[in-house]
Amino acid sequence: MSDQKSLQEEIVEVCLRRGIIFPTAEIYGGVAGFYEFGPVGQTLRLQLINLWRQHFIQSEENIVEIFGSTILPEKVFEASGHIEGFSDPLTQCDKCKSMYRADHLLENHDTETINFDVLTLQMLDTRINELKIRCPSCGGNLLPTKKFNLMFETTIGPSSDKKGYLRPETAQNIFINFKRIANFLRDKLPFGVAQIGKAYRNEISPRNFLVRMREFEQMEIEMFVNPDEINEHPSWDEISDLEINILTRENQLKKQKFKRMTVQKALDDNIIPNQYFGYYLALESEFIEMLGVETSQFWFRHLLEDETAHYSKANFDLEVQFPFGVVECVGNAYRTDYDLKKHQEYSKANLFVVTPEGKKIVPHVIEPSFGVTRLIYIILLNAYQNKSRDWTWFKFPNVLAPYEVLVAPLMKKDGLKEEAYNFFWELKDEGIDVIYDESGKIGKRYARADEVGVLYCITIDYQSLEDETVTIRDRDTTIQYRIPTDATAQVVKELVLGLISFEDLQQEFEEINAGDTKGVEKRKVETNKTQQNTKKGRSKKKQNKKSS
Ligand code: ATP
Ligand code: GLY
Repeated sequence: MSDQKSLQEEIVEVCLRRGIIFPTAEIYGGVAGFYEFGPVGQTLRLQLINLWRQHFIQSEENIVEIFGSTILPEKVFEASGHIEGFSDPLTQCDKCKSMYRADHLLENHDTETINFDVLTLQMLDTRINELKIRCPSCGGNLLPTKKFNLMFETTIGPSSDKKGYLRPETAQNIFINFKRIANFLRDKLPFGVAQIGKAYRNEISPRNFLVRMREFEQMEIEMFVNPDEINEHPSWDEISDLEINILTRENQLKKQKFKRMTVQKALDDNIIPNQYFGYYLALESEFIEMLGVETSQFWFRHLLEDETAHYSKANFDLEVQFPFGVVECVGNAYRTDYDLKKHQEYSKANLFVVTPEGKKIVPHVIEPSFGVTRLIYIILLNAYQNKSRDWTWFKFPNVLAPYEVLVAPLMKKDGLKEEAYNFFWELKDEGIDVIYDESGKIGKRYARADEVGVLYCITIDYQSLEDETVTIRDRDTTIQYRIPTDATAQVVKELVLGLISFEDLQQEFEEINAGDTKGVEKRKVETNKTQQNTKKGRSKKKQNKKSS
């Protein structure tokens, strides 16, 4: 445990030094549960969001996005049930007044309870007393547990009688805008509405760096489906054979591990509620692997009956094994028509669609809800390398690397600096994510690039001035080859997309690397090859389907 703890401390320290994550208001001592993205972290965040949008939105034909307000009036949360039920159990030390989340406190002492989320306030107090748990700070007596609502409350306008809340999930904006969006889409089910944005929860004890924050970001989709067609997903055949890890209720009770099964089997065995739900589990499984998380490191846990949210008919959390424990990174809920009906009741608006046959339908909702910061944290942990070199570095997957290329002159003198600087701009104009670094020894610059996960380093040296070639260094192996200067942009694009491997360069530019640079020729690969998007396998299949 102490090793694992120190890995977290190491990552936090690396994030501070390398411009990845900073504590909010650090110069004023920081504030628990709040972190901000620095220059490298922000690029990483945007890469993650881009990948998510490509995988879940742009590859689909019927998903739109909105961007809503983060403060919403009280009525919204009365209808959604958050005012009544969005709370965690709080206990306080009667001596030093420290506050604790009672279920988390118990988790550290209680080896018998399987699921702490389902314990009532009374059950929590009983277990705390049975196990003689005292205040971890001062050993004082713990007061009876009570409910603490996690929403941040505010007032809207100067008169302070109009209450508002910072939204605890992005989902509610989608439900309250349903009528407008459905009209815009001409009431044509199924359709999905996605939103990427901030959510706020006044967590009792923020912890584990980016895992439990008070202000964080979610990427959510509400997929609206005609309940009669919930088992008719048009792309079901494309994913039904995909294998996913499921931790069934039965296995949880027997304290066993997850089972690997096809999505089809999960549906046939009534483990998952319907095709639309299964479709998202399959897509999420593909997505998490793209982030560099191994298949054995994550699974979908079927929440037990008492854990399932009041608004949901089935919940499956995508749980990931972090070094310090298991963390939910995505929540999947079959919210049915609960939210639309509640908002219909409270607002008196009509929240249904009218089918071409004239039937009024309140659609059912499947909701995958992703936490950005938890995903960023697992990406950082998985990419972090602290053994292989004299410096620590990040082996980010290509699609996530904050920068693709570093351009560096070998020395600042003899025209190398000017040549390299111009080349940096040429690559920028080609749309490559490139940074420039001329300060310090070249080895130090390579190390600095590795430290933030730059994929390739391109160096302009004396030979570059003579024969128009450059060296390209691979982050993961540190191997270098010489390639023609004017082929570099294209080579980088193909490498990043995985159309060629770094080893392929050795063969392609064999003569140059053997020292024969006389007849350096341009590459013969057509440019548009580099422009195709290799991640669009699914949408390609769909196009074929449509045209057949
Ligand atoms: P937990 O049980 O860990 O508190 P939750 O069940 O409250 O999580 P959900 O309400 O399902 O989480 O929220 C959906 C997603 O939002 C989560 O899967 C997670 O990725 C993210 N999330 C929720 N709370 C936080 C938080 N305090 N900090 C960072 N991310 C969060
Ligand atoms: N929208 C689901 C959640 O945040 O819990």
